[in-house]
Amino acid sequence: MSERKTYYITTPIYYPSDKLHIGHSYTTVAADAMARFKRLTGYDVMFLTGTDEHGQKIERLAREKGVPPKEYVDHIVAGIKKLWEIMDISNDDFIRTTDERHKKVVQKIFKKLYDQGDIYKGVYRGWYCTPCESFWTQRQLVDGNCPDCGRGVELVEEEAYFFKLSKYQDRLIEYIETHDEFIQPASRKNEMLNNFLRPGLEDLCVSRTSFKWGIPVSFDDNHVIYVWIDALSNYLTALGYMTDNDEKYKKYWPADVHLVGKEIVRFHTIIWPIMLMALGQPLPKQVFGHGWLVLDGGKMSKSKGNVVDPVVLVQRYGVDAVRYFLLREVPFGADGVFSNEALINRINSDLANDLGNLLSRTVAMIDKYFDGLLPAPGERADVDAELQKLAVETPGRVETIMNRLEYSNALAEIWKLIGRANKYIDETTPWILAKDDSRRSRLATVLYNLAESLRFISVLISPFLTRTPDKIRQQLGIEDKSLTTWDSLSEFGKLPAGIRVQRGEAVFPRLDVDKELKALEELQGTSEQAVDEKNAADNKEASHIAAEQQDKKEEQEAAEITIDDFAKLDLRVARVINAEPVKKTDKLLKLTLEVGNQTRQVVSGIAKYYKPDELIGKMVILLANLKPVKLRGELSQGMILAATDDSDNLALLTVDREIPGGSKIS
Ligand code: MSP
Repeated sequence: MSERKTYYITTPIYYPSDKLHIGHSYTTVAADAMARFKRLTGYDVMFLTGTDEHGQKIERLAREKGVPPKEYVDHIVAGIKKLWEIMDISNDDFIRTTDERHKKVVQKIFKKLYDQGDIYKGVYRGWYCTPCESFWTQRQLVDGNCPDCGRGVELVEEEAYFFKLSKYQDRLIEYIETHDEFIQPASRKNEMLNNFLRPGLEDLCVSRTSFKWGIPVSFDDNHVIYVWIDALSNYLTALGYMTDNDEKYKKYWPADVHLVGKEIVRFHTIIWPIMLMALGQPLPKQVFGHGWLVLDGGKMSKSKGNVVDPVVLVQRYGVDAVRYFLLREVPFGADGVFSNEALINRINSDLANDLGNLLSRTVAMIDKYFDGLLPAPGERADVDAELQKLAVETPGRVETIMNRLEYSNALAEIWKLIGRANKYIDETTPWILAKDDSRRSRLATVLYNLAESLRFISVLISPFLTRTPDKIRQQLGIEDKSLTTWDSLSEFGKLPAGIRVQRGEAVFPRLDVDKELKALEELQGTSEQAVDEKNAADNKEASHIAAEQQDKKEEQEAAEITIDDFAKLDLRVARVINAEPVKKTDKLLKLTLEVGNQTRQVVSGIAKYYKPDELIGKMVILLANLKPVKLRGELSQGMILAATDDSDNLALLTVDREIPGGSKIS
C-alpha cells in the first residue's frame, strides 16, 4: 500500500496578548482552511500553531501584575486556545515555547550551533528597541529610530552570543534565486534579496543577560536564548526533532508552507533558513507572507473598538460568515480593509442570497412538487450538461487555485457553480414545469440536478465554512458519508433518488444593513483595552503597542511629579508650516513644524477640530523629546499640546505674544 502524501502547515506562534483581534484570526483561519482542504483531498496533514511566550516584556508585565511569568502567560494562552475553538481551528498540535519539549530541544540546537562554531561569544554594542525586542546597528536605524516601529532606541553594551548569519549569506542568496517557490508572493522575494541579503548580513545577537524569562543557554546560564532561535525552532520542536520520539519530524519535515504576516517574512526567509542550513536540515518548501487586515480608516473610532473582536462577530453572525469574509474579501498576499459594512454586504450577497437561496428554493420545490422525496432524473436537456460539466470541473480548478494559496479566487470559483445553479433555476423555470403534468419528468431532472449541485457545493465549501456543509446535507437528507468526500465529486449523479429532504431554517438569514451597523456599534464594549488592541492592530505591533499604551496610562495616573520630572519634558514653541490629512483616516493630520532651524513632522489627532489651512502659520507647543512613533505609516516626531473638555471640544495651546519658533518652555 502506498503511503499517503503528507502536508505540514504552520501559523506563526502568537505573542501572548489578552485579546487577539481579527487580524490574528486571519493567519490562523487561512492556515485552517488549507489544512482542511488538504485533508479533504487525501493528505496526511500536520497543522501547527502555538504561542511565543518568552521575553523581557512578558517578564515585566508579569512583575507588574505580581505573578510569576508562567502563571501570567498560562492564563492568556488559555484564552488564545479558546478563541481558536470558537473559530473552528483544527490544529493538530499547539506548541508553547514554555513547553519542556520545546525548551530542551532549543537548548540542544543552541549547543550544536555553538559546538560547530556557528554561534560565538562576543560583546554587543548596539541600539536596542525594547518594544520590538530587537537590536539594530547604526546603519539600520531610520532617522535614529527603530526601523520596524519608528520608536526610540537605546545604546546598549553587553556580553552576548552571536549567530554567524554572514557565513551562510551567499548560499541563501543562491537558494532563493534558484527556488522561486520558496518566498511567496514573488514581490516579497525581491524585497528580501534587495533590501536585506544583497547589502550584506551582520551576525545576529542570539542571547541576553539582562533578563531571565527565556530559555537558559545550557552551558552558560547567565544568558537566555533570545527571540528568534527560541521562536523559530518551534516548527521543528513540535515534531520531536532531536529527540528519541522523532517520527513526526521524519514524516513531516520539511514543512510545506509557513504562513506568516508580511512583517515577519524577513525572519522566516533569512534567519530561519540559515539556522536550518547550519543544522544540516532541508529548508521549508515555502514561506508565504500575507498582507495585513487593517481597519477602515474612516471608521476608526473609540466606540468601534470591539467590532473587530472576532468573538463578537462569531456570536452574531456565526463562525462561517466570519471565516468566509476573511478568506473571500481580500486576496491573500495583499493588505485589506476590514469594515462592518463590507462584512454585512458579503453575508447578504454571497451567503444569504446566492448560497442560502439556492438551498431553500431547491428544498422547498422538492418538498412541494415531490412530497419531499428526491425524484430520479428523467427527461434531459442541453442546459443540464452545462451545469453538470461545471460541477465536475470545479474541484480540479479549486485545487489548482488553492495550491497557490489564492483563497479568495478559490471561493470565487465555487461561487461560479452556485451562480450557475441559480441561473439554471431561472432558465428551467421549475414552477412553470410544475403546472403541466406532462413535464413532470423534466421537473424531476431539474430538481435532481439542483440537489446534486448542492451536494458538490457542500463538499467544495467544507474547508472554508465548517458548519454550513452539514446544514445543507441535513436539509437535503444526505446521510451517506461516502457522498461527502472529495472523490465523490468525480461523478455527477451519485445522489440516490428517494432521499427525504427536510425544510429547515435559512442557513444565512438576510441582514438589514442599517440595523446591523447600528447593532454592531452598540455591541462595542467600552473597554479601553479593546480599543487599545484595535489601534494596535492598525499599527500592526499589536501586543507591543498595547503594552506601551498601558505604560503610558500608568504614567498619566501618577498623582504627583517633581520639578525634575517636569524638566524631562522638552517643550518648544513651533510654527506650523504645512498641514495635510493622513490617508485612509479622518482623524489625523500630518503637520510640518518649524522648530528653530529644524523641521519636524508630527501626526496629530486633530482633524476633527481644525482644517489644515487654519493651522498654517499658527504657533503651537511641541513636546519635542517624545519617542517618535509611526501612525498610519507616517513618522510622528513629537506631540503638539491641546486642551480638551468633557464635551469633545479641543483647543490647541499657543503663545500669547510673538516669540521665535524653537523657544524653550519652562
Ligand atoms: N511571535 C511572532 C511570530 C514568531 S513565529 C516564529 C509574532 N507574533 S504576533 O502575535 O505578533 O503575530 C502573529 C501573526 O498574526 C503574524 O503572522 C501577524 O502578521 C499576524 N497579524 C497580526 N495582526 C495582523 C493584522 N492586522 N492583519 C493580518 N495579520 C496580522 O509575530
